[in-house]
Amino acid sequence: MFYIGVDLGTSAVKLLLMDGEGTIKKIVTKEYPLYFPHPGWSEQKPEDWITAVKAGILELTEGIDKSLVAGIGAGGQMHGLVVLDNEDRVLRPAILWNDGRTQEETDYLNNVIGREKLTEYTGNIAFAGFTAPKILWMRKHEPELFAKIAKIMLPKDYVNYCLTGVHCTDYSDASGMLLLDVKNKKWSQPMLDICGIRESQMPKLFESYETVGTLTEKAAAELGLPKTVKVAAGAGDNAAAAIGTGTVGNGACNISLGTSGTIFISSDTFQVDSGNSLHAFDHADGKYHLMGCMLSAASCNKWFMDDILKTTDYAGEQKGIKEESLGNNHVYYLPYLMGERAPHNDPSARSCFIGMTMDTSREDMTQAVLEGVAFGIRDSLEAAKALGIHIQTSMICGGGAKSPLWKKIFANVLDIELTTPETEQGPGYGGAILAAVACREYDSVEAACRKLVKVTAKTEPIPELAARYEKRYQTFRKLYPALKGIFPEL
Ligand code: XUL
Repeated sequence: MFYIGVDLGTSAVKLLLMDGEGTIKKIVTKEYPLYFPHPGWSEQKPEDWITAVKAGILELTEGIDKSLVAGIGAGGQMHGLVVLDNEDRVLRPAILWNDGRTQEETDYLNNVIGREKLTEYTGNIAFAGFTAPKILWMRKHEPELFAKIAKIMLPKDYVNYCLTGVHCTDYSDASGMLLLDVKNKKWSQPMLDICGIRESQMPKLFESYETVGTLTEKAAAELGLPKTVKVAAGAGDNAAAAIGTGTVGNGACNISLGTSGTIFISSDTFQVDSGNSLHAFDHADGKYHLMGCMLSAASCNKWFMDDILKTTDYAGEQKGIKEESLGNNHVYYLPYLMGERAPHNDPSARSCFIGMTMDTSREDMTQAVLEGVAFGIRDSLEAAKALGIHIQTSMICGGGAKSPLWKKIFANVLDIELTTPETEQGPGYGGAILAAVACREYDSVEAACRKLVKVTAKTEPIPELAARYEKRYQTFRKLYPALKGIFPEL
């Protein structure tokens, strides 16, 4: 049988076709626009997602026996607010995970409702990108549209709704709404009350590996697929990427270097760090995880290459960085192009280069960008350490993980071993695995991961280099507090 994995990303949807043995037969990517209607805002049209997904599935299944397609599973960009009216029409463009418009609402939630109450209700505090502050923003700024909301959902849930006609979500993605009692896996009534919404407006909750429904007549006809194709609830993209890299079980760790950068720590029990800098969310295997999320990771390098150096030769630029300059760079880069989530929770934070002299080179600045992102993830690793979690090895995935140099920098900045999975398809592969479990090809997510995910490469830290980076990190961590007061003025 075949399973379709969907990675509903911020710049494009990536779809893959996997067979029951976990072999990827084909990959298709379809891009869609991202809108920045005001500085710091970030939106997308849900209609564009479903158009791209349908076109992608048609291309992906061209030339195969379509009756062999058994399931579809998606990992989707998290936190985005999708609102539908009572005829299931999209009310406004989706407000995305990296949108920074909700400073006022985030402050209200954290300071007036209070961090303790929010943690008691959901296990988390408010971050600007989370869904609840966006609902409060809509209530204040678009009251007429707010009054018309019949259904609230997350990006991949809109795709699942279009395929099955079921209003559904899964626990891992719902965790990022700040409306779910994450520990007890149910909507939080106090949070719904605070946001002025009702449970009937919320989607039905599923485990990621459960089937939410089969294709509607219309979707089946459009896609040329059997109506019996099962759609799994799927997961938030980071939980799906974790499944795709076999990050299940207590203490397993995955670092994802995509547009955003995350460190994802799987856990059998529900835990919250005292500073609330890590998200305490449900995992797609039915358990829990902690996650630190940087809003700009591989996108910092992409920005520096595409927009500043105006080159597409990323590897060529990195070739100029000499071995001996690792751990010795006098230039620092703060990776806050879209503000920052973990650990600073500051939409006003901005990127900067610091420490340049007359002999600073293009290579030093390129290296500083790669190092700044690694230092940002180290900030979240420190929060995990404070909880008594000591990571010694982690998987690494995402576009950024294709660079051996960046992996070396990460291994030494974090001082941990990094392993790369054989099939580097992050959320899409995780989505396909969830679909295979939903279709009973495997008994559980763990069993599927054990069978399907294989490690190919390891990057070990080098003690001397890790020590040099330790010193650099101690300087890096003083930069944000020193600049914090200036950012709002920029
Ligand atoms: C996670 C987060 C991002 C998006 C990116 O909390 O906001 O990783 O899911 O797609």
